[in-house]
Amino acid sequence: MKRIYGFASFVLVVAASAGLFQCSSGTKGVATGATCATGSTLTYATFGQAFMDKYCLECHAGKDKPDLSTLAAIQKERAEIMSTTAAGPTGTNTNMPEDAEPTVEERTQLGEWLACGAP
Ligand code: HEC
Repeated sequence: MKRIYGFASFVLVVAASAGLFQCSSGTKGVATGATCATGSTLTYATFGQAFMDKYCLECHAGKDKPDLSTLAAIQKERAEIMSTTAAGPTGTNTNMPEDAEPTVEERTQLGEWLACGAP
């Protein structure tokens, strides 16, 4: 009997590390229509860094690709972040993050910040 449990937990560990239980869900690839508002005050310092720290870096700072731990890395991934995470007047993407839930307002701010070029 003990052996069966041993084997079962081995299977669980293998399945988990193969990512079989990692089901990212939610909307992805929707056009948000986000634009850069004139006079937008959103910057890495006032918004982006704290947002990433709160919702993304648990996974995207070495563990999972893409790396989002620096502003330069974020700027390179702007389109992908927009299509997985951001919101705007025409749509909301909720594919990322995988567990914590930013509010639609936060996703909309993210959309605006990205549309401004993630300054
Ligand atoms: C719990 C872990 C976890 C968190 C938190 C998380 N991600 Fe991810 N993310 C993943 C994994 C795993 C993948 C790769 C597999 C996948 O696409 O599901 C991924 C993939 C991505 C991709 C690439 C998707 C593509 O289609 O190219 C982007 C962009 C991304 N995440 C952005 C973010 C952003 C932005 C946040 C924070 C708002 C975030 N993620 C939070 C685990 C996470």
